[in-house]
Amino acid sequence: MFNGNYARLYDSFHANKDYSIEIQSIVHSLGLEKFSNLIGLDFGCGTGLHASEFSKIGIRVDGFDRSEDMLAVARKRNPGLRFSSNLQDFKKEYDFSYSLFDVLSYQVTEEDALDLMRELFVRTKSSGYVLLDSWNSAGVLQDPPKLTERTVESSLGAITRKVIPDLSGSEEDIYPLTIQLIHQSSNEILMSELHLVRAWSPRKVEDLMLDVGFKDISVLNLVRPNEVVQNFEWRFGIKAKKP
Ligand SMILES: C[S@@+](CC[C@H](N)C(=O)[O-])C[C@H]1O[C@@H](n2cnc3c(N)ncnc32)[C@H](O)[C@@H]1O
Repeated sequence: MFNGNYARLYDSFHANKDYSIEIQSIVHSLGLEKFSNLIGLDFGCGTGLHASEFSKIGIRVDGFDRSEDMLAVARKRNPGLRFSSNLQDFKKEYDFSYSLFDVLSYQVTEEDALDLMRELFVRTKSSGYVLLDSWNSAGVLQDPPKLTERTVESSLGAITRKVIPDLSGSEEDIYPLTIQLIHQSSNEILMSELHLVRAWSPRKVEDLMLDVGFKDISVLNLVRPNEVVQNFEWRFGIKAKKP
């Protein structure tokens, strides 16, 4: 997943996502503006777009991801930063850490979600904050994923990304999505892969984070920061402190 052409075209397919505004929201949510010389960890950093925005405001972020192809894009974008698919390459304790844009939702079992949270726990210093986001089970149930198509121009020509949900196959808030890349002029399917995405409930994520040892856990509305997350909303954020 997140390899080859999908990694190379990832930024184009998400060109409408404003990473600069997102990092302002992270800085504000975690109270980072009060500190200087911070170093953070981005778990599931993808193509390094959050890291790049953090650099612009003087905060250094290292990035971990399991996709080498996503990391190749991240390294090209941020030559001075550390990106790796090997967790041993990261120093033990960061000032803060985060895992955003559905990385938690790609962990479909409790054990995988706990593994991610444990990594954030051990790699964040005492009194440091972590921030996660996820699909929201109540919101996604009310308004399940629909077929979407988006076409971008690339060096390969016009490429359409189709996301095809299989709602008959969804159980326990896990949604199978077939993601295809289709070459427009030849109609050739360049890539077709199944992504399983889990919509978690804020309550469940809170419980898992407590099990891992986090404290001061709060659910955040990352879209409208001053409002509580409603049942109809598709995503939520969650912030927690390492004791
Ligand atoms: C939807 S992308 C989000 C990337 C990036 N955070 C962003 O905001 O653009 C999900 C990323 O999470 C990575 N990922 C998912 N599960 C992971 C895991 N258990 N360990 C490391 N990376 C993971 C994928 O390889 C992919 O790059």
